[in-house]
Amino acid sequence: MPATYPDLRLKTVLVTGGSRGIGAHTARAFAAQGAKVCVVGRDRDALDGVVSDITSGGAAAIAVTADVSDATALAGVREQTETRLGPVDVLAVFAGGQGAPVPTPELTEQHWRRVLDSELTSAFLTIQAFLPGMLERGAGSILTMSSAAGRQPSQANLAYGVAKAGLVMLTRHLAAEVGPRGVRVNAIAPSSIRTEKLAAHMPPAVQEHVAAMHPLRRLGVPDDVAQVALFLASDAASWLTGLTIDVAGGRITG
Ligand SMILES: NC(=O)c1ccc[n+]([C@@H]2O[C@H](COP(=O)([O-])OP(=O)(O)OC[C@H]3O[C@@H](n4cnc5c(N)ncnc54)[C@H](OP(=O)(O)O)[C@@H]3O)[C@@H](O)[C@H]2O)c1
Repeated sequence: MPATYPDLRLKTVLVTGGSRGIGAHTARAFAAQGAKVCVVGRDRDALDGVVSDITSGGAAAIAVTADVSDATALAGVREQTETRLGPVDVLAVFAGGQGAPVPTPELTEQHWRRVLDSELTSAFLTIQAFLPGMLERGAGSILTMSSAAGRQPSQANLAYGVAKAGLVMLTRHLAAEVGPRGVRVNAIAPSSIRTEKLAAHMPPAVQEHVAAMHPLRRLGVPDDVAQVALFLASDAASWLTGLTIDVAGGRITG
């Protein structure tokens, strides 16, 4: 029986990376709690597909296309969301996913900058767009998306690991700074989550091998992340801030 969080009903939730994968699933999960959802990404058709899934179930959802590494585009996202759904109560900063392995000697400066922009600067800019409103209202919950690759060395490229580790400190630092003003900030650090992309790129035998590396002996699924996001955003977590939750099937260190 999935958990229900009545306080999430009619909250405005914005999910970057909402066009597919973990973000799309999380957007659906918030909508299932009765929240009004805005999904943000670059792929209009994919975003429209998520919105139509949600609205056909009777919940409210809109899509806004934007590149989240562009501050001007993010200002437009805020304006459209506030006009159509109201001020954002829950900000799920999930866009990213540039973790494909590259040996460090082959990681170019351009690639490094692209990954830092995609994973870390985009999160900073997204938060900058919505934080002032949350501080004015004295309320809000921000969820950031780290990764197991930001918690320990991994097969992902170095820039991705560094960016995802940076999100852990962004979360702790910001939580300490804005906690006194009513805004909570928490991070989720998933290990291998079986999204459409992972399923397409990781052969079944490798999936089995990776599953066996986790104490709970399976890969994660998007719902494992979505359920943690719901909890962290809800009043059930009202005294939790600055945390990074490893959604990792027990594959954790330290
Ligand atoms: N899957 C995993 O095993 C795993 C593990 C740890 C952490 N994560 C993290 O979880 C998040 C979601 O990953 P996923 O596996 O669900 O990836 P995914 O299926 O590739 O989805 C990535 C999402 O991010 C959006 N996005 C990326 N860059 C963007 C940009 N510059 N502007 C706007 N949207 C952008 C994409 O939107 P468009 O395609 O519409 O542009 C898409 O919605 C990422 O931050 C990833 O690093 C994933």
